[in-house]
Amino acid sequence: MKAVVFHAIGDIRLEGVPEPKLQKPTDAIVRLTASAICGTDLHMIRGTLPGMRAGTILGHEGVGIVEETGADVRNVHRGDRVVIPSTIACGSCFYCEHGEYSQCDTANPNGAMAGTAFFGGPASSGPFQGLQAEFARVPLAGAGLVKLPDEVNDDQAILLSDIFPTAYFGIDLASVQPGDSVAVFGCGPVGQFAIASAKLKGAGTIIAIDCLPDRLETAEGQGAEIVNFNKENPVDAIRRLTSGKGARVAIDAVGVDATQAKEGWLASWIPTAEKSRHAKELREVAPHTNPQGKNWRPGDAPSQAIEWAVEGLAKCGTLSVIGVYPDSARFFPIGMAMNKNLKVVMGNCPHRKYIPTLVGLVQNGTIDPTQVLKEEVEPLVSALEAYKAFDLRKPGWIKVKLEPALV
Ligand SMILES: NC(=O)c1ccc[n+]([C@@H]2O[C@H](COP(=O)([O-])OP(=O)(O)OC[C@H]3O[C@@H](n4cnc5c(N)ncnc54)[C@H](O)[C@@H]3O)[C@@H](O)[C@H]2O)c1
Ligand SMILES: [Zn+2]
Ligand SMILES: [Zn+2]
Repeated sequence: MKAVVFHAIGDIRLEGVPEPKLQKPTDAIVRLTASAICGTDLHMIRGTLPGMRAGTILGHEGVGIVEETGADVRNVHRGDRVVIPSTIACGSCFYCEHGEYSQCDTANPNGAMAGTAFFGGPASSGPFQGLQAEFARVPLAGAGLVKLPDEVNDDQAILLSDIFPTAYFGIDLASVQPGDSVAVFGCGPVGQFAIASAKLKGAGTIIAIDCLPDRLETAEGQGAEIVNFNKENPVDAIRRLTSGKGARVAIDAVGVDATQAKEGWLASWIPTAEKSRHAKELREVAPHTNPQGKNWRPGDAPSQAIEWAVEGLAKCGTLSVIGVYPDSARFFPIGMAMNKNLKVVMGNCPHRKYIPTLVGLVQNGTIDPTQVLKEEVEPLVSALEAYKAFDLRKPGWIKVKLEPALV
């Protein structure tokens, strides 16, 4: 079968690999009808989320049809249409029983303290073969797979595998209440669904911060007040838009590949000391990089989004970090956060906790995720070109869906 395979930082390939087989009674084999490229995949190829093993199939977002199930998968059967949660969990350990699926004690073969188990990730996450392929082995399938009703199509369902639940988790963690002001850093797919989720919770002012005009336009289309950090200081703008107080909630939907201002007067005012501090952070989180032309270049300021978020928050506000940072990231403006009495919440999304609820919201028409953002649809065989274009931020490409069936 065809799959997108990680070989080294800056080196991914589309190649023929053996089809997966059932290995345990709790496994299922799913024939993928849709997968997608995520900002998390970019971190791995740029080298800012290290530890990938050569030969790992990439991808952790998937929708498909169950082909085969092990003897201990009792709730899904051959022919069922399912969404695959990005994170893998057993459903019955202490953490899973408390809804903390991404901290499952048993799913990760490296042990209970090894971290979140997910598809297509670094060695420390399993590693498990990913979902940018024609078929996938889904471990602990009974606890993970969520059946899809006919009313939810693949274009909608692929957004329920990772992106929408992650954003909804970030808003839920921050306990967003009706009327709250929410600043969303990053207007990629996760940021766009953070805006949509904040709206579902009745948020008041929603401020969206990015530097990409097409993504800001999509955020504005959702009703957010937009701030282009290449044109104005985002912290000053947030304060102006919140009567001087700052936002009650800030969402980091950027993560480790954050960039600083690149154009305009703000860029020319970045002190040399700040630039060299960011460069040092980058060396710490990404000791190995392998840019190919303009592709696979890490962001130049890993702590930038976090710093602006902490600065832009109101006193006693809540910072919710859903952007991904590797274990090696040691930066955080602790003094400013402490002295403002901030609450800080964060983590990897426990997808299985939210997916059934979100499938229900799509089924009953409360929200249509395909109206939140436009998906670019590409055949799996064009995945490498799609990856490169997505990495270069091709205008209009906010989310790329890959379809094995298209040629
Ligand atoms: N916690 C989880 O479980 C989970 C799940 C999925 C994705 N993620 C993470 O969420 C983050 C966003 O994912 P995505 O797919 O939307 O990624 P993306 O790369 O498509 O989007 C990130 C956006 O942030 C913008 N940005 C860069 N620097 C910025 C700054 N200083 N301030 C504001 N915006 C800035 C970029 O221009 C880009 O539009 C990534 O870190 C991804 O790894 C986390
Ligand atoms: Zn993802
Ligand atoms: Zn568990």
